[in-house]
Amino acid sequence: MKELIQKAAELLRNSKHTTAFTGAGISVESGIPPFRGEDGLWSKYDPIVLDINYFNANPGHSWEVIKEIFYDFFGAATPNAAHYFLARLEKEGLLSSVITQNIDNLHQEAGSCKVHEYHGSSRNLICTKCGQSYLSSEVQLDQLPVSCIKDGGLLKPDFVFFGEAIPEEAQKASNEEAFQSEVFILIGTTGEIMPASLIPRMAKENGATIIEINPNESNYTPGITDIFLQGKATDICSKLSKYLFT
Ligand code: APR
Repeated sequence: MKELIQKAAELLRNSKHTTAFTGAGISVESGIPPFRGEDGLWSKYDPIVLDINYFNANPGHSWEVIKEIFYDFFGAATPNAAHYFLARLEKEGLLSSVITQNIDNLHQEAGSCKVHEYHGSSRNLICTKCGQSYLSSEVQLDQLPVSCIKDGGLLKPDFVFFGEAIPEEAQKASNEEAFQSEVFILIGTTGEIMPASLIPRMAKENGATIIEINPNESNYTPGITDIFLQGKATDICSKLSKYLFT
């Protein structure tokens, strides 16, 4: 493992263009459970609540679950060493941006400036009628579903529900990173959800070296990963950090 860490650190140090691609696994050690797997959110909750058609037809029920998971529970989470590592890489000029599938805002809270939120974010609520945006921290979630104070329209978290399109800006920026990157570092993602899962594959096809951090093999590991750093995000990132910054 020591040799692999060293090799990965050298790649990161020498790469002219590196992008990080993160999934639920990077936030697990911040107390946020992943979606899939034994203790994953989808073993406890029915993902139908995040289906856009279900939400529109049953906003009250969807909102109750959404509030519990994404606002009461996730809201208390703080960044961990892996989030801080990526922020430091960016500050040192070693990372172009983070593409994240997470909606938890923890990359920004750790200090990352260039973050492409592929699945949107829980930070804002959007009126489904007039498009007015609200900071979720400023909206009382005690009467559900929540509605727009302007026109009474249903408010929806500004993240991508099943059945919705990827935000255009994030899609475009992620494609560009996949075309330009020499190194792609994947942290904590199974690679099961399309179209996000195509981004690292595009990067690989364009010649990027793929470094992957995950305690378990993912869909990427056997096919595209060049250096598999098997372990928890905070452990591996702390080791990489030692090599790069001390
Ligand atoms: N450090 C790093 N990785 C970890 C850790 C950890 N401490 N703990 C778990 N993991 C890994 C798991 O092994 C798994 O590969 O994190 C991954 C989490 O996978 P998923 O729950 O499938 O999350 P993700 O790939 O981000 O899901 C993609 O699916 O439901 C949708 O929109 C949702 O953005 C999400 C998308």
